[in-house]
Amino acid sequence: MMKKIFLVCIIGLLFSSCVHDPIAGEPIIPKVLEPRDTSKVYFVNDLLPILRSSCAIPGCHDAATPAANINLTSYESILASKVGGEPILVPGKPLQSKLYRATRGLDILVAMPTPFNFQITDKDKNMIAKWIAQGALNNECEYICDEGEITYFGTIRPLIDKYCTGCHYGLYPSDDILLETHGQVAELALNGKLYNALLGQNGVARMPQLAAMPDCEIAQIKEWIDAGAPRN
Ligand code: HEC
Repeated sequence: MMKKIFLVCIIGLLFSSCVHDPIAGEPIIPKVLEPRDTSKVYFVNDLLPILRSSCAIPGCHDAATPAANINLTSYESILASKVGGEPILVPGKPLQSKLYRATRGLDILVAMPTPFNFQITDKDKNMIAKWIAQGALNNECEYICDEGEITYFGTIRPLIDKYCTGCHYGLYPSDDILLETHGQVAELALNGKLYNALLGQNGVARMPQLAAMPDCEIAQIKEWIDAGAPRN
């Protein structure tokens, strides 16, 4: 009898320790993101994907090949990157920050990205300056996707340019895959590789490599693919 009670206690203890012991498993805390303040630039939402696709690319400023020792793959690597001992990012001061100055060619002969690379837009450059002026925080807000009609030119092209084109561009595109034209994107969309890459499934490498796109943007691309990847 004592043995039985003892056993029940042990089993009970085991179960309760599995369920309640916070050390036994990682507590799952959902990340609560702040609502978007439309006057702000958010590093993780707005800037990081562009820096990773257009600057932190193989042979330029990625972790493996940081040209001029400038590594633009993460907030931390940007903070740690220096030119002549000076940090490339001076929070609050865009005009003292080479991260911004380089995009305008203020110290060098060619503006970054170089003429051989996919160009970031004027809007992107202004966004970098604004983010620095706002204190260059490692900030992130909730992801909201426009509920309107999904079109190639209005929705898909801007997403591909933000997350992908920088690496899949020009004379030496990563994996020999170009994503510059509708035809090139539609081909990948219709043979299944685009969606598989966004989820990193069915043997296709996950793209972008360092962090998946937000779910609602992947859903927008899926909707466009399911509609036959139209050029609309
Ligand atoms: C920083 C550079 C970079 C970015 C940004 C990038 N790719 Fe890639 N991509 C690569 C490299 C490198 C490969 C080669 C596969 C590998 O080794 O990971 C590749 C491979 C691929 C492949 C083939 C994968 C396979 O397993 O066959 C597809 C499809 C692809 N990329 C699509 C995309 C899409 C879509 C995006 C944007 C959402 C994107 N890539 C963003 C560098 C990049």
